[in-house]
Amino acid sequence: MPAPTYRPANPESVFTYGAPQLKFGRGAADEIGPDVARTGARRVLVVTDAGVAATGAPERVAGSLTAAGVEAVVYDGTHVEPTDESLQAAVDWARERGPWDAIVAVGGGSSIDTAKAVNLLTTNPGELMDYVNKPVGGGRSPEQPLLPLVAVPTTTGTGAESTTVCILDVLSLKVKTGISDVRLRPTVAVVDPALTMTQPAGVTAASGMDILCHALESYTARPYTTFERKQPGERVPYCGANPIADMWSEKAMALLADSFRTAVRDGSDERAREQMAMAATFAGMGFGNAGVHIPHANAYPIAGRVRDFHPSGYPDDHPMVPHGMSVALTAPEAFRFTFDAAPERHVRAAGLLDPRAERPDDAAEFLPSVLTALMRDIGIPAGIGAVGYTEDDVPDLVEGTMKQQRLLATAPKEVTEDDVAGIFRRSIALW
Ligand SMILES: NC(=O)c1ccc[n+]([C@@H]2O[C@H](COP(=O)([O-])OP(=O)(O)OC[C@H]3O[C@@H](n4cnc5c(N)ncnc54)[C@H](O)[C@@H]3O)[C@@H](O)[C@H]2O)c1
Ligand SMILES: [Zn+2]
Repeated sequence: MPAPTYRPANPESVFTYGAPQLKFGRGAADEIGPDVARTGARRVLVVTDAGVAATGAPERVAGSLTAAGVEAVVYDGTHVEPTDESLQAAVDWARERGPWDAIVAVGGGSSIDTAKAVNLLTTNPGELMDYVNKPVGGGRSPEQPLLPLVAVPTTTGTGAESTTVCILDVLSLKVKTGISDVRLRPTVAVVDPALTMTQPAGVTAASGMDILCHALESYTARPYTTFERKQPGERVPYCGANPIADMWSEKAMALLADSFRTAVRDGSDERAREQMAMAATFAGMGFGNAGVHIPHANAYPIAGRVRDFHPSGYPDDHPMVPHGMSVALTAPEAFRFTFDAAPERHVRAAGLLDPRAERPDDAAEFLPSVLTALMRDIGIPAGIGAVGYTEDDVPDLVEGTMKQQRLLATAPKEVTEDDVAGIFRRSIALW
């Protein structure tokens, strides 16, 4: 059956590209003190979580600030995968102890997103839910400028150091959603692969699947030319697949092919860690402009409705399906579904991700088979059944996915409730 295609009456001819300044490489984090001091900042908030704090990295960054004559105060109360309550707690803490001249986030997506929310709400009036995307929140835009934000990722995953979004779990509604505004983008991303060496294998595997899906989803996203033309004031950060985002995504996939399995198997392999850090950054530059689609839309209810799953490598104090894992679990079936919208892109992506893989006779099977082989090798669960979901949960999961219209609008073909239900059902046991 041919894919339903988008036929805009007045096709878009413009795409946009944005990225933070970037400092990359071993030792880059040691330069934060002098760099921040040169901006004139005198009092800086360092945002992290307890697990990252235990590695000593945030203390070293705070030490580099102090040595450069900048007062640094560490907040290590970030919740792993932030909630509305945890963000509110961080904001209250920071509002009470402010004012600040700059913010430095040291950690994974959880710490970087917490820093984005703190930055927004220590510089702008109102409350968290005012700014959360509609329809869950008020969709308000900040009117006042934010503080300089230095993002220092310690996982190889989210790309949150380059993006304009902050993801949170709204506990009362069991829904993950976000705050999205171009002003949330960090001013500088400092990517120091040395800080990623201590990631547990489970975190490396899940966050690495996040990189992979960022690259794959933005590469297979609906092209920017298939949208209706926007007015200047309507431009959004996620504008669909475009030549610049494609370039970053392709390179990210090639880096993953070379380093992902090694980084999970042997976390002390410096070359693999460095390549993963580069892949995460590159994929962030790609998806941060093109957008992501079905696997990410499905991930929100998978993570938001978790009952009793405790993944290895993560804090055991609350059940969770980590972001990268929740994205990966329906990816093979999602890409089987989207294949006919852009067959050549799916085949090319599979070849980039595993140049040695045998090509199945049915080209539609190539990408799903490359993905499941990788997931098995790095210890990702065998489907949504393995993290606690059954057939009976499918209607609720579908409802959660359909709320993510902002993401589904970037899918390469139109997606109905039945399509999503089929993807979930076929993802209960992937192998
Ligand atoms: N803003 C965005 O663009 C964006 C994109 C994707 C995901 N996210 C969000 O990011 C969060 C996930 O972030 P993540 O995958 O980077 O992981 P994370 O920040 O949730 O951290 C995962 C775990 O790894 C530990 N950890 C992190 N770095 C470590 C290190 N170097 N050594 C030892 N332990 C370490 C943390 O303490 C934590 O227990 C989710 O909330 C997700 O929704 C945001
Ligand atoms: Zn992601």
